[in-house]
Amino acid sequence: MSEVKIISETAEENELVIVLDFGGQYKELIARAVRNLGVKSLILPGNTPLEKIKTLAPVGIILTGGPDSVYRKDAPRCDKSVFELGIPVLGICYGCQLLAYISGGVVAPGEHSEYGRTQTRVDPTSELFFGLEPEQIALMSHTDEVKTLPDGFRNTASTSACRNAAFESAERKLYAVQFHPEVENTPNGTAIMKNFLYRVCGATGDYTISGYREAMIDAIRSQAPEGDVLLALSGGVDSSVCAALLGEALPGRVHCVFVDHGLMRQDEGDEVEAVFSKREVHFIRVNAQERFYGKLAGVSDPEQKRKIIGEEFIRVFEEQARRLTGVRYLAQGTIYPDVVESGGVNSAVIKSHHNVGGLPADMEFDAVIEPLRGLFKDEVRALGRELGIPESLVSRQPFPGPGLAVRIIGAITAEKVALLQKADAIFREEVAALPQNERPDQYFAVLTDTKSVGVTGDFRSHGYTVALRAVKTTDFMTAQAHELPFALLTKSAERIVNTVPEVSRVVYDVTGKPPATVEWE
Ligand code: XMP
Repeated sequence: MSEVKIISETAEENELVIVLDFGGQYKELIARAVRNLGVKSLILPGNTPLEKIKTLAPVGIILTGGPDSVYRKDAPRCDKSVFELGIPVLGICYGCQLLAYISGGVVAPGEHSEYGRTQTRVDPTSELFFGLEPEQIALMSHTDEVKTLPDGFRNTASTSACRNAAFESAERKLYAVQFHPEVENTPNGTAIMKNFLYRVCGATGDYTISGYREAMIDAIRSQAPEGDVLLALSGGVDSSVCAALLGEALPGRVHCVFVDHGLMRQDEGDEVEAVFSKREVHFIRVNAQERFYGKLAGVSDPEQKRKIIGEEFIRVFEEQARRLTGVRYLAQGTIYPDVVESGGVNSAVIKSHHNVGGLPADMEFDAVIEPLRGLFKDEVRALGRELGIPESLVSRQPFPGPGLAVRIIGAITAEKVALLQKADAIFREEVAALPQNERPDQYFAVLTDTKSVGVTGDFRSHGYTVALRAVKTTDFMTAQAHELPFALLTKSAERIVNTVPEVSRVVYDVTGKPPATVEWE
């Protein structure tokens, strides 16, 4: 396979709002608020080149807040021409000051910093405040303020401490608010965002999960009018949702190859099988544990383990793919951040092995189908729920491709896998009982190669040490140890040593990333 055309007709046709990031802590909230209002959004760095913005053809641009002062020499700025594209702009906090500063207004420190919920008087004749009462509560968080408006702008809101709490040039479609409409502490913030999107940008709200489902099903049908589709199903969220969507679009024509390398979490392979063997897809589970354990026997070097698993995965997948006839398309669960991060928003081709999980070099496909190409992770999860995939699968945390092999220090044996699966299941069960907002972003158990002395009843034991790991992170590039309740840790430890007799000690990993990584290997 050389280069294959990716077809995803509707995926990138939605109206888009670009969120230009100036370092504000609420950028994700802004992006999410926009998407929740039915408009696709994308966060890009504040200094994104104008050409890129033009190519993406957004219906609106939002400038986020940020900790800097716009008048400082090295402060982050956007291209001045962003304000001359004729595309509506909404500046929030730092973004509001930047809009004023670049357009010729004066920004300077206010007499007082203004923090918290603040009584704000707005002008309902502004499109931004359409339908609102003049007296509003808004969340303020600033020291600098816009002292003088640029020419051609009019004031549309104020507070007792901040004269220019909002201003605009409706003619040029430039709007700015010093406060934060994206947070709950601005009770009518959603209405303000909605006014911007629908009244100013003219958005139609074409970005809903159920709408996406219908549109994608139609698109997949026209993309693959005849012939079968092959998908490597990992059991992760993206490939699972992709499989369910394809199954609905092309019943009986989708082959999902699920390679169980014997390094999944407890019962995971069976859960995936239970979900997909009931769907309109040809589900092929390859139980390749023995094969993987055989190749991994005696290997303790982490990189070597990863390499062996990667290669063996390709071999197994290859063998299965060759047995199928009539396959004309390859499907992938690529999602929007994958596309953007690889710089490929507008690229229509991929390299043969990108994200495919290993394919025979001589396999020919007419095209690659990527139905989730326009979605963010939380939207993939929402689509999964919409498609009736069980919550346990939809809300699954990230899991490395090499699986438990990188969570067992030293050589892998079937016995070690089995006892780690048990310990890990106990820890995950305890953490899952926490309220959603208190749960870590990733949490699991690790089987170390340290054995230590313990006492069981009247007997001395000499068992494994299990380490528990739980991290807070948004991007997984950096992470902090999650402060789990001490009682949860001790209860997990107690349950683990009581249930898994080979384990005599449980420790908690409190290292951040850097210097450690999330996984132990
Ligand atoms: P590290 O250990 O590098 O992990 O701090 C960061 C995130 O990536 C996951 N991870 C992997 N995911 N294949 C994957 O698909 C891998 O080989 C792999 N190694 C680490 C890890 O679980 C964490 O979420």
